[in-house]
Amino acid sequence: MIRLEGVGKRFARGDVEALRDVSLNVAPGEFVAIVGASGCGKSTLLRLVAGLVPASSGRVVLDGTPVVGPRADTAMVFQAPTLLPWADVLRNVTFPLRLMKQAGGDTEARARALLETAGLKGFENRLPKELSGGMQQRVAICRALLQQPRVLLMDEPFGALDALTREEMSIELLRIWSGLRMAVLFVTHSISEAVLLADRVVVMSPRPGRVAEVIEVGLPRPRGFEQEGTPEFQTAAQRIRALIYGERVPRAA
Ligand SMILES: Nc1ncnc2c1ncn2[C@@H]1O[C@H](COP(=O)(O)OP(=O)(O)OP(=O)(O)O)[C@@H](O)[C@H]1O
Ligand SMILES: [Mg+2]
Repeated sequence: MIRLEGVGKRFARGDVEALRDVSLNVAPGEFVAIVGASGCGKSTLLRLVAGLVPASSGRVVLDGTPVVGPRADTAMVFQAPTLLPWADVLRNVTFPLRLMKQAGGDTEARARALLETAGLKGFENRLPKELSGGMQQRVAICRALLQQPRVLLMDEPFGALDALTREEMSIELLRIWSGLRMAVLFVTHSISEAVLLADRVVVMSPRPGRVAEVIEVGLPRPRGFEQEGTPEFQTAAQRIRALIYGERVPRAA
């Protein structure tokens, strides 16, 4: 469904080669996590799939059509929350659907339900600046989910959340995903989060970013934190760790 064909990205500014020859296929309804060192091009990869920046070489194809700009069936959660400062939480969440003239009679009720699951009940009429960073990020996640996109791009969506909310949100994301079954590209710095969530984990090498290896996570679904103790989980996590650190796996003396 999502196909990256030898995608390269070079930024003229600073003459940075961010990505080189990245090829990847994501099936409909598949959950793919992307991990790799800071600066290896993960955000750039997501922006390319979102149609926010053009590739320098190769191409991104979605459902057989080359991506040339943002699409209504693709939603993105950015690394930092990007809310409209003048609109309250509810209007922020419903904004894309209203913008695309796809808001229906049940849009507001669905938005309220999503906000409630994200622990934001009672904050519907607050402005972004009245919320903490983690709360703002949860609003951005609700906004993406409300669109019921076929492709959901998430760039370290839980990075600003405290550990407990992060665990709750990841299970909630899996629950919603199992209902909607959109294709998900999920960037994270957390190896255990990647293994817990994903069908496959793409490990990227440092700049210029390339696909170092793709790890299949065979854990049964529905997933839960109790699986973290299983040999399958540990094997996958160790493999990813080894790929990221190479010979330099950090070790206490
Ligand atoms: N708009 C831009 N203009 C110039 N260089 C850019 C731009 N966006 C990203 N880069 C460069 O491309 C490289 C990859 O950046 P990117 O943000 O994709 O990395 P990342 O893997 O998401 O890092 P992090 O884990 O820290 O978020 C970096 O060297 C960065 O400086
Ligand atoms: Mg990034």
